[in-house]
Amino acid sequence: MKFFVDSADLEQITLLNDIGLADGVTTNPSIIAKSGRDFKQVIAEICAIVDGPVSAEVIATEAEKMIAEGRELRKIANNICVKLPLTMDGLKACKTLSSEEIPTNVTLCFSANQALLAAKCGATFISPFIGRLDDITQDGIELIEDIRMIYDNYGFETEILAASIRNVNHIKECALVGADVITSPPDVIRKLAEHPLTEQGLAGFMKDWATTGQSIL
Ligand code: E4P
Repeated sequence: MKFFVDSADLEQITLLNDIGLADGVTTNPSIIAKSGRDFKQVIAEICAIVDGPVSAEVIATEAEKMIAEGRELRKIANNICVKLPLTMDGLKACKTLSSEEIPTNVTLCFSANQALLAAKCGATFISPFIGRLDDITQDGIELIEDIRMIYDNYGFETEILAASIRNVNHIKECALVGADVITSPPDVIRKLAEHPLTEQGLAGFMKDWATTGQSIL
């Protein structure tokens, strides 16, 4: 399973990239607004840090403008993936940009039928938002399972990019049901390494080692 970092925080992206935990990056207009940075500039800097796809989202809502924005964003770097909303206009833009071999990430997916449409339009990635479904008491992981089955039934190559990850259990559940990619805030990725017994065990080893008076280096 690939790990994308859902952030425009260059420091956090670099930290995770350095340990092989940033196979790509996703952003959205809210993340860019939070960064306080110039959109194209911050995206260019992210693209220079990671080798994998960096999702940059269009702002237009009409297909022709989305296509123009997508082409413009793609000029920033070779690893730009154009993010498009799951609307009929977004699907039309997806079809056109995909036919030009521009990678696409169709976002704001909340149903298996929407994911089916994105795959038929040639999306590189589909982004089901599991946290936002959980927020309204619908099962986000069940949606990932349904999309997995549909894509496998028909051999669609669109990758399932589980988004709106809120906690470590979301990541485990996504791995269990076969999501191709998760995109997660950096703090949730770091929490995957934590366990109280690991901390407790390490403290015990260090205490006992100190009694030996030895050193390795
Ligand atoms: C990723 O592509 C999405 O923009 C992101 O995961 C949304 O997460 P949120 O629901 O926590 O805003």
